[in-house]
Amino acid sequence: MHRTIIGRRTLVAQKTGKDYPGYLFVLEGIDGAGKTAVCRSVAQNLTEMGFQVAILREPTDESKWGKEIRRRSPMGELTPSEELDLFIKDRDWNIRNRLIPALKDGKIVLMDRYFFATGAYQSTSTGLHWSEILKKNREGIAAIEPDIVFILDISAEEGLCRVTGRGCETNQQFEKHDRLVEVRKAYLEMVKSDWGNYFVIDATFPLKEVVSLVKSEIIRFMKENARKSL
Ligand code: TMP
Repeated sequence: MHRTIIGRRTLVAQKTGKDYPGYLFVLEGIDGAGKTAVCRSVAQNLTEMGFQVAILREPTDESKWGKEIRRRSPMGELTPSEELDLFIKDRDWNIRNRLIPALKDGKIVLMDRYFFATGAYQSTSTGLHWSEILKKNREGIAAIEPDIVFILDISAEEGLCRVTGRGCETNQQFEKHDRLVEVRKAYLEMVKSDWGNYFVIDATFPLKEVVSLVKSEIIRFMKENARKSL
C-alpha cells in the first residue's frame, strides 16, 4: 500500500492499482497555447515541493523518427501518412525508453504533447477520424493512458498571434490558421466523446493562473488516489 504525502522532501508519488507507481499528466493544445511554458513552471513547482518530476516532449529530439520529423516536416517533405507513421514510431520509442522507466521510478511525468496531438493534428491531414488515430496508439503500440489530459484551449487566431509574437520561424506545415481551427475542433470533440480523463483550461488566462490550476488539479488527483489506497 502506498501513500502520497504532500509537503515533505524526497517524495515519491506512488499510486496503487496500476502497472507503474508514477503518474502521467499530459499537456495538449494548438500551437501557441502555452503548453511548454506551463509544463516547465508546473515541473518547477512540483520539484520545489519535493516530488521527482520528468518532462517529456513529442515529437522527441532523440529517436531517429523524432529527428526525421523535426528535420523534414517543416520543409513539407513528408506525406500525411508518412508523418502519421513517424509520430507513432517516435512515440513507441519514447514510451519504451523514457516514459516507462520514469513511471517505474515513481516520477510524475509531464508530457508536452502525446497521442492526442496525433489524433488532433493528423486527423486534419490524413482524413482519418481522430478516434481511429487514438485507437492506433492505444491498441497498436499500447500507449499508456494518462491520469489527466490537460487541454489548454485557445482560438487559432490567438495561438498564431502568440507563435508569431515570440519571434519563432513559422512552421509552414503546422501553423496555418485554418488547420489550427480544425485541430482545436478535434481536441474539443475528443473531450466530449472520448473516454480519456480530460481537463479543459482556458489558455487565455494569465500563465500564472493556468500553472496554478494545472498544479492544483495534479495534487488533488494524487491526494484522491492516495486516499483511495488507504
Ligand atoms: P511542438 O510545437 O510541441 O514542438 O510540436 C511541433 C509540431 O508537431 C506542432 O505543430 C504539432 C505537431 N505534432 C503533430 O502534428 N502530431 C503529433 O503527434 C505531435 C506530437 C506533434
